[in-house]
Amino acid sequence: MSKVFDAKVLAVYMVAPNTYYMEFDAPDIARLAVPGQFVHVRCGETNDPLLRRPISIHMVSRPKGVLALLFRVVGKGTEILSQQKPGDRVNMMGPLGRGFTLPLPGSKVAVAAGGIGAAPLVFLVQELANIKCQVTVYLGARDKRSILCDGQFIQMEAEVVIATDDGSLGFKGTVPELMKRHMDWRKTAMTYVCGPGIMMKEISTMLAEADVPGEVSLEERMGCGVGACLSCAVKISHHGQISNKRACFEGPVFPSWQVVWE
Ligand SMILES: Cc1cc2nc3c(=O)[nH]c(=O)nc-3n(C[C@H](O)[C@H](O)[C@H](O)COP(=O)(O)OP(=O)(O)OC[C@H]3O[C@@H](n4cnc5c(N)ncnc54)[C@H](O)[C@@H]3O)c2cc1C
Ligand code: FES
Repeated sequence: MSKVFDAKVLAVYMVAPNTYYMEFDAPDIARLAVPGQFVHVRCGETNDPLLRRPISIHMVSRPKGVLALLFRVVGKGTEILSQQKPGDRVNMMGPLGRGFTLPLPGSKVAVAAGGIGAAPLVFLVQELANIKCQVTVYLGARDKRSILCDGQFIQMEAEVVIATDDGSLGFKGTVPELMKRHMDWRKTAMTYVCGPGIMMKEISTMLAEADVPGEVSLEERMGCGVGACLSCAVKISHHGQISNKRACFEGPVFPSWQVVWE
């Protein structure tokens, strides 16, 4: 069950341009959370911004009761959040949403991360490593300074293959292009994707063509975060029937072949 509470900030670091890693004392979330879920964070003490902001659970340490977030500053809410200092308290609600489905232990899986989309995938790879999966991470960003979490993935013994738009590190091009060249689709039990919409759409199309399963984590604009306001509706196709699902409640993770990409 999700809760609302004030979490004490334990640490804040800027890890890349405009990108912050933040640790909180949050034992209930650390205990309950599964990869792919998110917290809904109140950014600041005043009513501006009024709405909470959804941020994925980046990592948890269950024994220490610690929750970590990794976020990019894009507007007012994330700007205020990035200014919090150790000892400050941040009101949050969570864990929320439906997370990733784990494969059978020992499976060979692919993880595709674009930009800040790497954030929730670190927690996922942590759990995949616990069940001894063989993980290849296809990790992309604009340039080498913007590559995130490569060290964490390597530490968890995942194979990491990098793509940058400008070719300053690894393959020059996009993550889907890299996967087309590198990935052995027939041997991959499951592919997990989080990143820009265009990247998730391209990879979902490739997965459908290769007839292999995948899951994507959708980043929709959210109001309430708990299924009440319908502001996060996404079109999902199930047995040919298209219906609206709430990204905050039935998602944010959906099977890649069910998403109706706009
Ligand atoms: C399930 C989920 C998980 C997310 N996880 C992360 C993460 O781990 N790290 C990270 O950097 N970002 C993440 N985001 C995106 C993050 O929520 C937005 O960047 C943030 O809400 C922007 O708020 P702002 O006040 O800084 O920007 P503003 O542009 O001022 O925000 C205005 C409004 O738009 C909403 N909004 C703006 N951009 C987005 C967006 N991309 N997705 C959803 N709502 C948006 C805000 O919640 C707010 O209501 C996630 C989004 C979702 C839906
Ligand atoms: S954000 Fe309100 S229903 Fe999803």
